[in-house]
Amino acid sequence: MNPLSTATLSRINISILAAFGLILFSCSPKLYQPLPEQAQWASNFSNSTVSVMDLSDGKNMYPLYCTPCHDLHMPAEYTIAEWQNIYPKMAENISLADSSEQKIYLYLLAGAKDAGK
Ligand code: HEC
Repeated sequence: MNPLSTATLSRINISILAAFGLILFSCSPKLYQPLPEQAQWASNFSNSTVSVMDLSDGKNMYPLYCTPCHDLHMPAEYTIAEWQNIYPKMAENISLADSSEQKIYLYLLAGAKDAGK
């Protein structure tokens, strides 16, 4: 009889998977948590009323809609001008209501490298 039973092997497999999951989780870059300052910045920038809640919605939708083709790009990877150039093209790839698309856009802009400076 093989000393490594199927049950033992599957327990080992589960531990390996769990360890991998933990590594992936802890290495994945964190999206910033929007603050009132960022909501204020986004309001001024867009000439509309943008709340922290709106930016949080954008934060939550961003990874859901923008990762089918590539990994997440952090908001601070790009300047405002770069996001203004990139985002409209990328938004054509996703199918989302304009208001939701705008929330993702403002979340990215408010976290841009040079936002609020
Ligand atoms: C249908 C596939 C697809 C989806 C969905 C998609 N992208 Fe992209 N994205 C690409 C491809 C392909 C490239 C690389 C080629 C390019 O720059 O056009 C890219 C490149 C990028 C880049 C790098 C651009 C640069 O010049 O460095 C950013 C940032 C980006 N995407 C953001 C987004 C955001 C934000 C969303 C969600 C609104 C999104 N992407 C959704 C396909 C996609």
